[in-house]
Amino acid sequence: MTVQPIRLFGDPVLTTVAAPVDTFDKELRTLVSDLTHTMLEAPGVGLAAPQIGVSLRVFTWYVDDELGHVCNPILHLSDEEQDGPEGCLSVPGLSFDTKRALSVVAHGVDMHGEPITIRGSELLARCIQHETDHLDGVVFVDRLDPEARRDAMRAIRESQWFGQPAPAVKLDPHGRFGL
Ligand code: NI
Repeated sequence: MTVQPIRLFGDPVLTTVAAPVDTFDKELRTLVSDLTHTMLEAPGVGLAAPQIGVSLRVFTWYVDDELGHVCNPILHLSDEEQDGPEGCLSVPGLSFDTKRALSVVAHGVDMHGEPITIRGSELLARCIQHETDHLDGVVFVDRLDPEARRDAMRAIRESQWFGQPAPAVKLDPHGRFGL
């Protein structure tokens, strides 16, 4: 298990569509372990493989004391929405109100290739949507309406970390919303 450096907004891996997981081997198990430990260390409630520089469709979460991971998720979203603060370990120290579906059902497979279904609402649903976006090369600020996105981009450009190499260990005061 290794805590990996987290890639920051501006890193091209975060805007790359990740490839499906098709090999369920020791390398994948190591990736899930690294994601889990990096997420817990940050601390964050979710972490997607592209955020540690691996362009594969897998992410981990830690919500309501439940630890999980999924590969190749397919989402079914509720019509009912939620709106509230959202953050990202790749956009440290910032959070912005982001609209999401209130609940989600995710179908995917675990690290052994066994089918799994995740049902979540509120924070877990937000997390699953946010992390699946990472697999599609989408960062949450892209979900904001144009005016809010302009403000978010200004705050990002003014952040000390912007354009800097990622530190090996991150201390994020907004870890509660780190996704
Ligand atoms: Ni994120």
